Amino acid sequence: MIFAIRPIKLLKALSQSLELTVNKTSQHHWRTAMIAYRIAEYIGMNERTQQALVYAALLHDIGAASDWEERRKLQSFEISNEMHHHAWSGYVLLKNSPQLGFLADYIRHHHDFWDGSSPNGKAGTEIPLISRIIALADRIEVLLQDDVYILDQRRDILTAVRKGSGTVFEPELVGVISEISCQESFWLDLMNANYYTGFFEMFDWGRFRYSIDDMLDIAEVFATIIDRTSQFTAAHSRKVSCLSAFLAQVKGYSEEEIKLMRIAGLMHDLGKLAIPNEILEKNSQLTEQEYAIIKQHTYYTYRLLEQIDGFQMVAEWAAYHHETIDGTGYPFRIGGAGLSLGSRMVAVADVFAALAEDRPYRKPMEFAQLVKVMQSMAECGKIDGSLVKDLFSHKEEIYALLAGIQSKVAV
Ligand SMILES: [Fe+2]
Ligand SMILES: [Fe+2]
Ligand SMILES: [Fe+2]
Repeated sequence: MIFAIRPIKLLKALSQSLELTVNKTSQHHWRTAMIAYRIAEYIGMNERTQQALVYAALLHDIGAASDWEERRKLQSFEISNEMHHHAWSGYVLLKNSPQLGFLADYIRHHHDFWDGSSPNGKAGTEIPLISRIIALADRIEVLLQDDVYILDQRRDILTAVRKGSGTVFEPELVGVISEISCQESFWLDLMNANYYTGFFEMFDWGRFRYSIDDMLDIAEVFATIIDRTSQFTAAHSRKVSCLSAFLAQVKGYSEEEIKLMRIAGLMHDLGKLAIPNEILEKNSQLTEQEYAIIKQHTYYTYRLLEQIDGFQMVAEWAAYHHETIDGTGYPFRIGGAGLSLGSRMVAVADVFAALAEDRPYRKPMEFAQLVKVMQSMAECGKIDGSLVKDLFSHKEEIYALLAGIQSKVAV
């Protein structure tokens, strides 16, 4: 099975997962990519390099996605040395990925100072051009204030950027920004959400043939970020992935479907990136509002995955894991008739994995207790009873699978 996917749509959707916050999505990556693209256009960069630039800009802060403290720090203009940490973690995350690895080095250097004073030690043109452009575009984006008239902002933004010329930023690129910024449209575009949400789709950069293994590779990267949002979920997505695939195998799914199920499991909590770590790690009772915030995560999982070409089914499998047979689940309240077996599998896998894991407010559940809880959930119309039976009748195998994952994560 091959997915004919427009990489720009894929990257744009993945990039959006880095922008999730409690109440809305921010646009840091999109707008950084847009500014970077304007610079690339101005200097006559060839189309291939432009693509790599835009893709790298769309994911540049991926290394900070799991850590809200770090995400908050990045919103201030000054770059301190400790902020280079996320550039390095982004690099480590991506470097071994066959699909996204080509972006790793650009991301590693996206806060390198032109004068060579940052920890990487590279200076001037030793720093990849793509990284130099992102460095500048990123800081301009951070200076944008949504509540101040945009054309009143440009003088201060340019002053701030010029101050860093020759130390933080490449002087020639600062010159380019000075030139571009004469166009009112450059600034107006940055404030026009209607325009920039469709901006990247205007590029005719074609479709790329991704195999299921390619998509699995990308899903692995994102599972790592998702699971790092809390020490309690260090291997959760991989466990759900593995258990979902196991259930699919028991039900006689084809090899390809089993792999798709793996992807759905890896991505099922993608929307969790919208939940601050302090809520995920809270060890006392959640307030009503905190619980509502947690519940948003499957909504975002769906809205992100559905944007990827050919991913409709995977989006449903992944995002319906808190929907219930009796229709009282969330966020769509779909109910039994609308819940495919695939979605039910991820739901059962998720409940099992979660109950068997440590949580800030309770210890891992013993098998006997777990059976009781899941059976009663099935009886109450929350999860699929036949899948629960499938799991319990393979107790040894599933515990061995989970132990295998745990030991890999512990390494
Ligand atoms: Fe950054
Ligand atoms: Fe950034
Ligand atoms: Fe979930």
